[in-house]
Amino acid sequence: MLSEREIKEALKFPKPETFWKAEPLLGSIYGEEEVEAAVAAIRESMDIHKGFGFSASPIPEFEQAFAAYCGCAYAVTCNSAGPGLDMVMRSLRLQPGDEVIVPSVNYQAAPLAVLGAGGQVIWGEIDPRTFELDPVDVEARITPRTRAIFPVHMNGMSAPMDELIAVGERHPHPDYGPIPVIGDAARACGGGYQGGKIGKKGLATIFSFHTMKNMTTLGEGGMVTTDDENVAKYCRSVRMYGSEAEAWGTSNVMTKVQAAVGLVQLGKLDGFIAARRRIAYERTRMLAGLTEITPPYEPADCEHSFYLYTCLVPEAWAGEKRDLLMQMLQDEYAIGCVVANRPAYLSRRILAEHTKGQRNPLSEAVTARLFCVSLHPAMSDDLNRYIAAAMVRCVERLRKL
Ligand SMILES: Cc1ncc(COP(=O)(O)O)c(C=O)c1O
Repeated sequence: MLSEREIKEALKFPKPETFWKAEPLLGSIYGEEEVEAAVAAIRESMDIHKGFGFSASPIPEFEQAFAAYCGCAYAVTCNSAGPGLDMVMRSLRLQPGDEVIVPSVNYQAAPLAVLGAGGQVIWGEIDPRTFELDPVDVEARITPRTRAIFPVHMNGMSAPMDELIAVGERHPHPDYGPIPVIGDAARACGGGYQGGKIGKKGLATIFSFHTMKNMTTLGEGGMVTTDDENVAKYCRSVRMYGSEAEAWGTSNVMTKVQAAVGLVQLGKLDGFIAARRRIAYERTRMLAGLTEITPPYEPADCEHSFYLYTCLVPEAWAGEKRDLLMQMLQDEYAIGCVVANRPAYLSRRILAEHTKGQRNPLSEAVTARLFCVSLHPAMSDDLNRYIAAAMVRCVERLRKL
């Protein structure tokens, strides 16, 4: 842990003038290369025989590069992760009463995609160490109506895909066979799993290139990766009104300018992730010995992308005292924190009404202790040290309350 002298030194760093959000408004780093790529794509589109649209170059190049990055056969661009989740859920052609197991500790997008595709959300519990959907709990919730297992790669780290896939294989659906696993990797672009990149395992994976995410295509954008030709064909079709698939569809396409910038960002992604990891590890080192804070846990088979730096406080500090800690960091040190995420049935009424009678007590208890602290790949070491020192000071004061 930081010594008293190091804490004093670290806190001489000027209090940030702009409040540092836990999820920065720009999660990646942009340079002149992105500007040049965007301008070049605009100039090229100014030719009246070319224009901006219709899946033209460099959209296929971005898809191929992203598929190669993830080590899978297909990648399909779309305008954000939400429609990507919708398309993949709809590809299952769910019937009323068909069930999809989703962690309740989640952003609203994945469970809403199940609703939109006509399925029944079944909430699964998380592993309290990793915050990922727990395969043991999933297995206990499988019924003959289970059509998919839908983990989120929580806060930048991979869900335990191999274990979840094994659960799906052990309990094949009577008509459709092994239960597919679909990953929401909106927050986990560039993270690793089992020596490869997130995006390879399971039936399909959905990524976000929203402004806050690990890389961004001008603030919005998404990608579906898969090794399944039928899923890729279906998504390609329904992102443009669904005529080839003879299915419902709408327009969910990415623009050429976004794809041009996406190619540049993809080339820098490993650098962003390396920077995030270095800052996260350094912070964990500085907090070591501060017994009230449990820093993020990373299993040996995962390479965390640290989209968020997710910590736990002790059980005795759950709820009010955790909230007070976050408030002190925000008010006194301008360090933003966020609870990502409470069970989605507590934050969206439509999800609560859809899943009446279902609760996940373990997830509720864990998320009353959870909080995420600011982290950004461009964060200076001085700011990182200031954040760690501020956390130590706040915890020391809270100990006495
Ligand atoms: C876990 C998760 N899934 C899905 C989304 C939706 O992403 P998008 O904004 O690209 O639609 C988000 C965005 O914050 C997210 O955090």
